[in-house]
Amino acid sequence: MNNIMSIALLAGARPNYMKVFPVLKELERRADRWRATLIHTGQHYDPLMNDVFFEDFGARKPDHFLGVGSGPHGAQTARVMIALEELFQRERPDALLVVGDVNSTMAGALVASKMGIYTAHLEAGLRSGDRTMPEEINRIVTDAVSDLLLTPGEEGDANLKREGVPAEKIVCVGNIMIDSLVSVLEKARNRDIARRLGTEGRPFCLVTLHRPSNVDDPRRLGLIVGQLSRFAERMPVVFPVHPRTRKTLESAGLPVQRLMLLEPLGYLDFLALQTRAAVVITDSGGIQEETSFLGTPCLTVRPNTERPVTIALGTNRLVDPERTDLAGEAEAAIARWKGKPPPRIPLWDGNTAKRVVDALEKRV
Ligand code: UD1
Repeated sequence: MNNIMSIALLAGARPNYMKVFPVLKELERRADRWRATLIHTGQHYDPLMNDVFFEDFGARKPDHFLGVGSGPHGAQTARVMIALEELFQRERPDALLVVGDVNSTMAGALVASKMGIYTAHLEAGLRSGDRTMPEEINRIVTDAVSDLLLTPGEEGDANLKREGVPAEKIVCVGNIMIDSLVSVLEKARNRDIARRLGTEGRPFCLVTLHRPSNVDDPRRLGLIVGQLSRFAERMPVVFPVHPRTRKTLESAGLPVQRLMLLEPLGYLDFLALQTRAAVVITDSGGIQEETSFLGTPCLTVRPNTERPVTIALGTNRLVDPERTDLAGEAEAAIARWKGKPPPRIPLWDGNTAKRVVDALEKRV
């Protein structure tokens, strides 16, 4: 590389931020070779879903804000595409990096690849095998059109090869979320959120739920919340509530009195709770990985996962509340994992951003 290359990084929703920030920092460190711009699509817009993450990481404000907001999948994806195409017609970068699997990710990859802009996908190759999940469609489409597929581990490589992707498009870089996690872990440990909640020094259960398959149907959400309420007799259940979940809880008037319901938390406070929780119950993708890294037992309320390494390590287990009671599963998870040290996982080492930029430097 002789000249300075321009690269745009695209983020749109909560789980994207901790994936772009470490790469942005690394690109800024190599300012003699890169000029990086940050584009925020506005898929998430509430301060608690958004601004707090920029504050927690001391990240700079986005250079461009597309303001697409919420809506049905087609409309939301289309709004990102229209706004991004207009932006790239005015300011065409040499490359675009998209991360994760949200609607903004797929929209970005489609626009850039059609405009002939070099497109890299970070966290490529994940597959749940479940096409009823919108994220699975986003992953498949994004990987199909991207020029460079940056995978978190060998399972991702194997999935892509099985789909016929040529080996030269794939680079295994490791888990980018862990770069963010290790960069602020000490800071997170010093947060006083557990004391403020009155759970300091006591076992507690931490819950997040936001998948449409769990939270859009009041019967399903009612079943889960009922089981969590039973577990709350045993230990406090701390539940920061995603706006999508809150809508159903409120419109269906589900009984949540025993649960400690909170507004969505920022990264540092949520990480602080993950380090201290006796058990985590979630349907998030990233939290399955964060708990595995920290050695906190996790129950994932889904029939499948695109992160099977977390199951193989023993920290994570898939649970079906229609068949077994979450309260009993949580007890069993705590007993099973008690006293075990956090597992060591290859390439979950805080150096993924460096490997990402090294890979880009060889190709763009
Ligand atoms: C999106 C991602 C999902 C990711 C999740 C993390 C897709 C398909 N889904 O799901 O992969 O795990 O983000 O949160 O991209 N809302 C607000 N304020 C906000 C954002 C959303 O109130 O700042 C409400 C709106 O009512 C909206 C609903 O939440 O309709 C869902 O938001 P949306 O961005 O469509 O999807 P998520 O469920 O957040």
